[in-house]
Amino acid sequence: MKKTSVLSFLILGFLVFSFLLMSFPVKAQDTSKASGTLPDEVNKIVTASCTPCHTSQGGLMSKAKLNFTEWTNYPPKKQKEKAAKIYFELNKGAMPPKAAREKRPELIPTNEQLSIIKKWSESFTADTI
Ligand code: HEC
Repeated sequence: MKKTSVLSFLILGFLVFSFLLMSFPVKAQDTSKASGTLPDEVNKIVTASCTPCHTSQGGLMSKAKLNFTEWTNYPPKKQKEKAAKIYFELNKGAMPPKAAREKRPELIPTNEQLSIIKKWSESFTADTI
C-alpha cells in the first residue's frame, strides 16, 4: 500500500470510530421509554401509608398486586397502569383497606397527599410511554 492510502485509511477509520463514539451516548440518553423511579414526594407518602403491605415484606395478596420494592423493575406500561389504579383506589378512599384505616388511622393519606399522588398519576401521559 502507498503511504497516502494508508493515511486515508487511518483517517477514515478514525472518522468512523468517532462517529460511533458520538452516536452511542445519544442512544443511551434516550430514556423516555425507560422505567422511572417514584418522585421523592410520592415516595414519602407511599412509605408512610402503603409500605406496611405493598412491599416484598408485605402480605401475599397486597404485594402481588402492587409492590413498591419492585417499582423500578416494572416496565413503563405496568407503572402507568398501576399509577392509574393507585389514583383510582385512593380517590375512592379504598386504600389503605377499611380494616387498616380503623386500626391505624395514621396510615390514611391527607387531602394534600392525595393531590400530590393525583398529579403524579396524571403525569403518565400517553406520549411518554
Ligand atoms: C393493610 C394493608 C394495606 C395497606 C396499608 C395498603 N394496601 Fe393497597 N391493597 C391491600 C390488599 C390486601 C390489596 C389486594 C386486595 C384488593 O384489591 O382489595 C390491595 C390492593 C391495592 C391496589 C390494587 C392493585 C391492582 O392492581 O388491582 C392498589 C392500587 C393499592 N392497593 C394501592 C395502595 C396504596 C396507594 C396504599 C397507600 C396509600 C395502600 N394500597 C395501602 C392492602 C393494603
